[in-house]
Amino acid sequence: MDRIRIEGGRALCGSVYIQGSKNAALPVMAAAVLHRGVTVLKNCPRITDVCDMERILQRLGAKSSWEGHTLTLDCRNIEGTCVPMEYGSRMRSSVILMGSLLGRMGEVTVPYPGGCTIGRRPVDLHLKAFGQMGVHVEERQGMLYASGSKIRPAEYLFPFRSVGATENAILAAAAGDGETVLKNCAIEPEIVHLCRFMDKMGIQIKGKGTDCLIIKGGTELKDTVFDIPPDRIAAGTYLFAGAITRGQVILADAPEEELDSILQVYKKMGGQYYWNSGKLVTDSRHVQYPVSYVETASYPGFPTDMQSVLMSVLTTVKGDSVIREQIFEERFKIVSLLNRMGARILVDGRDALIHGTETLKGQHVFAEELRGGAALVLAGLAAKGVTVIDNPHFIRRGYENFCENLAALGGNITVDK
Ligand code: UD1
Repeated sequence: MDRIRIEGGRALCGSVYIQGSKNAALPVMAAAVLHRGVTVLKNCPRITDVCDMERILQRLGAKSSWEGHTLTLDCRNIEGTCVPMEYGSRMRSSVILMGSLLGRMGEVTVPYPGGCTIGRRPVDLHLKAFGQMGVHVEERQGMLYASGSKIRPAEYLFPFRSVGATENAILAAAAGDGETVLKNCAIEPEIVHLCRFMDKMGIQIKGKGTDCLIIKGGTELKDTVFDIPPDRIAAGTYLFAGAITRGQVILADAPEEELDSILQVYKKMGGQYYWNSGKLVTDSRHVQYPVSYVETASYPGFPTDMQSVLMSVLTTVKGDSVIREQIFEERFKIVSLLNRMGARILVDGRDALIHGTETLKGQHVFAEELRGGAALVLAGLAAKGVTVIDNPHFIRRGYENFCENLAALGGNITVDK
């Protein structure tokens, strides 16, 4: 079993290239299924979630190949309609194939979604939106079976914003014969990227970046080359890795328009930065202030995917900080592990009360999910002594060469096989 070993205490300095976005790549790969042709994705991150999605597409009949970070998907011969059980249970985003397989094949069977162990993560909104489009859905022995040979253009108001449900509804609507109007859509940048990709394929989408999307389905699609944009959460994670070690990290090719809420919090902690032709140049030597209150929220609020790594940083600044988690109820799982490393964090319902101590100490801990795993690595980089982290495979779901990149920035971190 491999594990990460970190000897903490070194300030990270240097430049790191920000990988392509996981949460943009996965729905774009699902969208490629709509087209009986070839899609080329450049700057695609080589992470296990993307590789798992690729394997699912292969099992459905697609051919695929990699050249560096360019992924070519040949979806001409997709005939399968069933997402294998083993993938669905470890990757929640496989549910995103419902919309596009329905659109292409008229039916789909997916395992009830798994993924990170962070809360209940139901899919009722996905299914309600499909229902409006004339799709019949049943649950049978842990599998969701949906059928609707003709997707009906519809008008649907989401009762609240969900990233995945918005994406799934857009994908299904693309196959409908007419205009579908989706209201109260999530407005995360990854949804805008998906819409831009679908536009390029030949599907007209009005309202990109707003909470009301109008999708004109049933058009002819074409082969498309698309650049996966940089990953805002990976960028934020490296930013906070600099912060927790009081280093000076340059983020090359960071998504400037998407980092506002993260940079606001960074600034509150005493971080300094400027932009220089697409590079974010950061100086964390003066990170020392607690954040009296920050809450996670849907975009453009502070992302829930950054909550755990922020918590790690706040354990190292003297004073009291409060984080309220509003999206996923079980996202405080790493608290007990950080406390084992010397942090003083109290959980009260949706709030984590963090009393910064400045003295984390190395421990043997284990990752249980993607972002919490990354947060433990950051804590290890700051801690005195040696930290060992089991289950690094969770981290590889979303970060490419995470430990190697941190080592290149000067961190004393290795992966022991
Ligand atoms: C996506 C991201 C994930 C991020 C999350 C919130 C991908 C692959 N994953 O996940 O990294 O943390 O957005 O920004 O893009 N909900 C329901 N019913 C539904 C759907 C969602 O109750 O049918 C609830 C969820 O339990 C959660 C909230 O809505 O409490 C937000 O979930 P959602 O926006 O759907 O997140 P995901 O698409 O799963």
